[in-house]
Amino acid sequence: MSHSTIEFIDLAAQRKRLGPQIEQAIARVLDHGRFVLGPEVGELEARLQTFSGARHCVTCANGTDALELGLAALGVGPGDAVIVPAFTYLATAEAVVRLGATPVFADVDQTSFNMCGDSAEAAIGVAKGLGLNVRCIIPVDLFGQPADYDMIGRLAEKHGLKVLADAAQSFGASWRGRKVGSLADVTITSFYPSKPLGCYGDGGAVFTDDPEIASLLRSLRNHGPADSGAIGERIGRNSRLDTIQAAILLEKLSIFESEIEARNTVARRYAERLPRSVVAPTVHQENLSVWAQYTLKVPGDRNAIAAACRASGTPIAVHYTAPLHWLPTYKRFPTATPRLAGAEQLSTCVMSLPMHGYLDEATQDRVIDAVRRAVDSCAQSPSKANA
Ligand SMILES: Cc1ncc(COP(=O)(O)O)c(C=O)c1O
Repeated sequence: MSHSTIEFIDLAAQRKRLGPQIEQAIARVLDHGRFVLGPEVGELEARLQTFSGARHCVTCANGTDALELGLAALGVGPGDAVIVPAFTYLATAEAVVRLGATPVFADVDQTSFNMCGDSAEAAIGVAKGLGLNVRCIIPVDLFGQPADYDMIGRLAEKHGLKVLADAAQSFGASWRGRKVGSLADVTITSFYPSKPLGCYGDGGAVFTDDPEIASLLRSLRNHGPADSGAIGERIGRNSRLDTIQAAILLEKLSIFESEIEARNTVARRYAERLPRSVVAPTVHQENLSVWAQYTLKVPGDRNAIAAACRASGTPIAVHYTAPLHWLPTYKRFPTATPRLAGAEQLSTCVMSLPMHGYLDEATQDRVIDAVRRAVDSCAQSPSKANA
């Protein structure tokens, strides 16, 4: 029997479901011609505010810019330290460095894969010991599950820090009934095509309840004018969301809740049927994850298991092959402790399975079967990856 290709993320199935709506939305923008900060941008921002419960949403060109804009609006700059988990996409730390501040890496928890409180507190101590002004902490909602915002809030209050949530992977998720976007002083997200809510190019957004931060963000994303419109008030940048991308996102937002439900159905079935030796992050019972990635810890030789899955037609990605403090450009920055065991261990043993809202049960079964066979066959051969 010949099988169809398994997609890691199936954007074509989503497009089919949306039918002609996307083309019609793009055609409306082509007709009105307001390609930059056109009416769909304002409409999207209003819809994202309602969706997330945040008072303000300011869209921008991508998630990395959103991080930089958010940090700049919080006043982060040279001489400041920002606490960042070591196991995340490198954009989280990149934004800190580009503002002239110092990232200080904290470890992550082996169960949730999110930032570990004790290590974050140790990182704050290290930063203070170096004479840095600890301004901000960036919890990353890794793979779609919100970080522990109770713990983060306590740390922030104790040490007088601002919280910037990197929700590039978790927009649509919730923590104790509260949606991502309203859990931190400032929250950022990415609309990169493979994200749970993605556009057809680059896009991002910043959320806050603070009207002054929101108005600063609007200025910074568009070359820094004063509220009066007078130019040259501050150094800004060009980081605006294209109107066509906003129009596409408005259509995708209309089916987003049902896609989140479908992703959770896939995640539950994976969890029930995958072998017990492979372990996904535990989702706290009061959390809703959007499963941006379905990432597993696998036993033994991760690279061999991933290769065996790929050989049988199941696409596998590895998020991430190294913690940030091991990367050439980031190893000069301080860490909470000399070793960050959780992040280091995860980078050697995780791999991500296909995950999207259009993965039917037959395809899920093929993925599950491929993982089971790969784990079994690699258990019989000696481990190389972690040697
Ligand atoms: C955790 C995290 N932060 C930031 C970003 C940056 O987003 P973008 O690619 O839109 O710049 C990403 C994107 O992959 C991400 O996963």
